[in-house]
Amino acid sequence: MALKITVRAVLPAREVGDLVVVGVPTLGGARKKNIKSPLDGFERALGRAFDRLVKKDDFKGKKDQQLSISTLGKVKADRLIVYGFGDVAKLGAADLRTFGAKAARAANADKAKKLVIGVPAGLETRLREIVEGLELGAYRFTKYLTGDRKPKAELSQVTICVMGNKVPDDAKEQIDLGQAIASGVILSRDLSNEPPNELYPDALAAAAAAACKAVGVKAQVFDYKEIQKRGMKLLDAVGRGSERKPCMVHMSWTPAGAKKRLVFVGKGITFDTGGISIKPASGMQEMKHDMSGAANVVGLMAIVGKLRPNVEVHGIVACAENMPDGNAYRPGDIFGSLDGKSVEIVNTDAEGRLILADALAYGRALEPDLLLDNATLTGACVVALGNGCSGWYASNEETAESFAGAVKTSGELMWRLPLLDDLKDQLKSDCADLKHTGDRWGGSISAALFLREFIGNTANWVHCDIAGPAMGDRVRGWDPKGGTGHGLITFVEIIRASSTGTAALPAGTKDGNKPKRAAGPGPAKADDAEGARQPQRTAAKKRAKR
Ligand code: BES
Ligand code: MN
Ligand code: ZN
Repeated sequence: MALKITVRAVLPAREVGDLVVVGVPTLGGARKKNIKSPLDGFERALGRAFDRLVKKDDFKGKKDQQLSISTLGKVKADRLIVYGFGDVAKLGAADLRTFGAKAARAANADKAKKLVIGVPAGLETRLREIVEGLELGAYRFTKYLTGDRKPKAELSQVTICVMGNKVPDDAKEQIDLGQAIASGVILSRDLSNEPPNELYPDALAAAAAAACKAVGVKAQVFDYKEIQKRGMKLLDAVGRGSERKPCMVHMSWTPAGAKKRLVFVGKGITFDTGGISIKPASGMQEMKHDMSGAANVVGLMAIVGKLRPNVEVHGIVACAENMPDGNAYRPGDIFGSLDGKSVEIVNTDAEGRLILADALAYGRALEPDLLLDNATLTGACVVALGNGCSGWYASNEETAESFAGAVKTSGELMWRLPLLDDLKDQLKSDCADLKHTGDRWGGSISAALFLREFIGNTANWVHCDIAGPAMGDRVRGWDPKGGTGHGLITFVEIIRASSTGTAALPAGTKDGNKPKRAAGPGPAKADDAEGARQPQRTAAKKRAKR
């Protein structure tokens, strides 16, 4: 349930709540007259105790410094947390989201139901990020907890106190936007955290369809029969070893008069045992998160249904469970693909790139201006960048620039990696068009190079390897342990940028531009692309445009 968030132009010391968290710029310097500080009222009420603690902890309001004070009834809240912002002018989206998340986590730890937040002057325009942080920091996956393990108190209400004389005019819009985005990230986390016995391919598809239905986004589910009929042979190969057969979902938002078409693809391996090339037992349970890319795409479409951008957005998720079985695919097998290319299987644990190959071939037939996939694809990417950062690749510099712009706005930790043609030889097979894995070295890059073989003449393609940050090993910024929804806020930014036209996407094949890459050998059949292009007629249309 979303938080009830209100914005007020009052001092936090005057507000009633269980916990107060105030952010302050670096202390010291002469206080400007007539400018309120969110600490006003607290220093006087708490008297010497406050000064002593400030001294003892050497609290200077430096970035990320924190001071926690029991108020013992001297102000309206039980506890006051002072959070250092350092130089307010330098705060980025990530800083504000982290601030909101820390405040919400502190509230949950304190069993506080009502939280009061105070922010210094100048942050009235940054409510959206703070709201995202609050919602994302308050998140807990408690569905399967019972009895004492189930949290009793839950943060439900937040008042954000701003220092100006009045509440900014766009406060409600900022809150609505922040909450709409956070709700999609939360949906993505929830799906990622579901155990694999509950969330199998059909269940993931059903969850995607339900999420779309709730917001007026169209969703088509292709069952196993349809996968076979359409010639998605790689998705079939990966999923055939499981009792729970593979499927695909095509979600579409197609407003009339849209000038751009963005296609997002996600890896939906509901559990990755490695298959016949089975993984070691230790840590295998983590592989329930191997559908985080798909979860992001579902969360994204749920956000799209709420934000109603004036661009076309398609979400494609390929769902399968990678299991060893008498019917499972094996190393040495050769399969065709939706694209037409034949692929020699080397290691059945490199299943992600196979299902993505068919999903990309399907997606590129929609002739997108941008084709973006995201996947928990390689351990090599985690080795390269650590657990908190994803790696991304772009097919050309213009696309890279616009993606980098979205990353900068979102504040997510995503680092560009190179598509080194030098490693292409690793994918040469003696008996098929392609081998699907190379050697150990440059493993994230060779996976990206393999995917590139299936984008046909799509000019603008981005691949995000989210293997590390999609599944948090600890609390980090606004991310919890477990499913994080990493990448999703950046994807929303891409849509927003192309919708408002503030950061134009490079022109793609749809605009008749010369494709920058040669077309692949086989035709990709995605005849439903036609149906998906029809303008949307839904009840959601009546809702106000944000
Ligand atoms: N799902 C894994 C990648 C992964 C690893 C995600 C660690 C999150 C954390 C993927 O399917 C996989 O097993 N990749 C192999 C590829 C290899 C066999 C070429 C890997 O990275 O070891
Ligand atoms: Mn694998
Ligand atoms: Zn996998």
